[in-house]
Amino acid sequence: MTEAILLVGGKGTRLRPLTVHTPKPMVPAAGVPFLTHQLARARAAGVEHVVLATSYLAEVFEPYFGDGSSLGLHLEYVTEVEPLGTGGAIRNVASRLHSGPDDPILIFNGDILTGLDIPALLDTHRSSGADVSLHLTRVEDPRAFGLVPTDGTGRVTAFLEKPQTPEEIVTDQVNAGAYVFRRSVIDTIPAGRPVSVERETFPDLLAAGAHLQGMVDSTYWLDLGTPQAFVRGSADLVLGRAPSPAVPGRTGESLVLPGAVVAPDAKLSGGTVVAEGAEVGAGARVHGSAVLAGAVVEPGAVVTDSLIGAGARVGARTHLTGTVVGDAAVVGPDNELREGTRIWCEATLPAATIRFSSDQ
Ligand code: GDD
Ligand code: MG
Repeated sequence: MTEAILLVGGKGTRLRPLTVHTPKPMVPAAGVPFLTHQLARARAAGVEHVVLATSYLAEVFEPYFGDGSSLGLHLEYVTEVEPLGTGGAIRNVASRLHSGPDDPILIFNGDILTGLDIPALLDTHRSSGADVSLHLTRVEDPRAFGLVPTDGTGRVTAFLEKPQTPEEIVTDQVNAGAYVFRRSVIDTIPAGRPVSVERETFPDLLAAGAHLQGMVDSTYWLDLGTPQAFVRGSADLVLGRAPSPAVPGRTGESLVLPGAVVAPDAKLSGGTVVAEGAEVGAGARVHGSAVLAGAVVEPGAVVTDSLIGAGARVGARTHLTGTVVGDAAVVGPDNELREGTRIWCEATLPAATIRFSSDQ
């Protein structure tokens, strides 16, 4: 039986204000809570047992996913009393695993959207005989990630989490947040205290001469840590660029869920999703955006690369670009909001209040 641990413990503060009511893994991406995509991809790769390691708002996962049987999985939940960090969270769920000491255990960061070939990572692990195998991806600016240089055979030579100085930036290969651990390695992580797998476990293993193997590939990969990335990820799921068996419908320019109402002359494009109970009015144009359940985009509004929270309202003729509108917030008519704007949940922006372009 293939087992996996899913880490969903971070606070998700960077997705606020949207996550005031909804923890990040439960924010819908392409119509379903983001976590569904990771669980469905794991299942499709042959994983049968998943332990969700969480440290906050755990009570929202279980009512939705239950025992996992609707996804064909056996799903268990473990909640930390105090956040234990990534390594501590892994160690904390070890007793739930059924695998033997030499068996491979998959571990996933819970905020990654990727086309990773999971069976290929397991194959790499088996054929290299490694203690831990890591999925690596190349990024332009590696400073927000864990840097993982490898030798000519793919063997990891160092692990540098969030490098601070230019001298530390020795590669563009970063930890993509998916690992295979030999089961017995998990048992060596100290129990009962916070441990960072990136800052403590990996460097300690390397210092002790353990074999860490990297698998670099160029498949789709996105860390959904920022609202902009989350919107991009949702659109890429709808477009089919990010592969997931959990997208509830055909992939394409837009996904309109049952119970949504879209005016015949409204234009949806760029991977836009309109969720159940949401409305898009006459002449509105929505591109690369997520309109969550019960939200309303009034006639003539133009919404680009934005996230419209559940029950929120975008007024007539309002233009939004790169904006996050929190749940139940109201942006009145004739506003113009640009990249990086976030409207707090339940806040109201009166009509014709903010504008960037000339007053024509
Ligand atoms: N259960 C639990 N408890 N989970 C946690 C905890 C904790 O105390 N802390 C973090 N996590 C989970 C987060 O929810 C997330 O899914 C994952 O562990 C990684 O934590 P982040 O806080 O998102 O880390 P990051 O994005 O700054 O960096 C990590 O991911 C990068 C790739 O996106 C590191 O693993 C980097 O090395 C990596 O490059
Ligand atoms: Mg992250």
